[in-house]
Amino acid sequence: MSVHTDVKRLTIPQLQAMKGEQKIVSLTSYTAPFARILDEVCDFILIGDSTAMVGYDMPDTLSITVDMMANHAKAVVNATQRSAVVVDMPFGSFQESPEAAFRHAAKMLQISGADSVKLEGGVVLADTTRFLVDRGIPVLAHVGLMPQYFNTMGGFKAQGLSDEAAERIYEDALAQEAAGAWGIVIEGTAEPLARRITDAVKIPTIGIGASPDCDGQVLVAEDIFNLTHGRIPKFAQQFSDVAAAIREGATAYADSVRDGSFPTLNHCFGVKK
Ligand code: KIV
Repeated sequence: MSVHTDVKRLTIPQLQAMKGEQKIVSLTSYTAPFARILDEVCDFILIGDSTAMVGYDMPDTLSITVDMMANHAKAVVNATQRSAVVVDMPFGSFQESPEAAFRHAAKMLQISGADSVKLEGGVVLADTTRFLVDRGIPVLAHVGLMPQYFNTMGGFKAQGLSDEAAERIYEDALAQEAAGAWGIVIEGTAEPLARRITDAVKIPTIGIGASPDCDGQVLVAEDIFNLTHGRIPKFAQQFSDVAAAIREGATAYADSVRDGSFPTLNHCFGVKK
């Protein structure tokens, strides 16, 4: 049986066509309840490998696997109709060779039905991007602060602070565009680098801690809903307090259970009069 809905999911070419016309809005999501709501406002939803830290309390993004990412992406695809869905290629799934990258990307798209993968890498991973794109897998590139380099960076650090470092990131972005990436996430870079990249490339740039002048913005949803233990990164802002709403609901539930006002017989099955 096929499922038909009137709502059409945004396609990757439609996202690309938004450059210069309107800002592209994206947030991360890892689960169906969140994704269902974000679908109403986002142009694309990213199943970031930040799932590792935000959803599993891991210290960095390195330990999340292809299967975990694919299953989170499946939940998001199932719960959404409108937003395009992009899934991150986790550490170890694409760096070894273009063939390994294709195998893992294809598996994630087959399991989840997502529209595109995202991969961290510039010049060094350009051949991999080309390999995937030529075989039908859209790639969103990610340059600048690449969290999968956590160990070589010695933590999460702003990038492109010197002229030389900025130039390398600029070259990374150009290499990914030339390799066929449909867009570029630019994370944690010193301005005016992201503005310069945005002006130089024909594909959309999606900033996170990069520049207001990027073609779009992405943030980790939990960071803006106060779901990260109050630690809001410098580049984010609290837009609502979901933690407070959950705490209020949980407290009301606990109070009702303890004082015996919940459940009532109305919540029970087959009650005999
Ligand atoms: O993993 C992630 O959430 C990301 C960011 C760009 C939001 O890669």
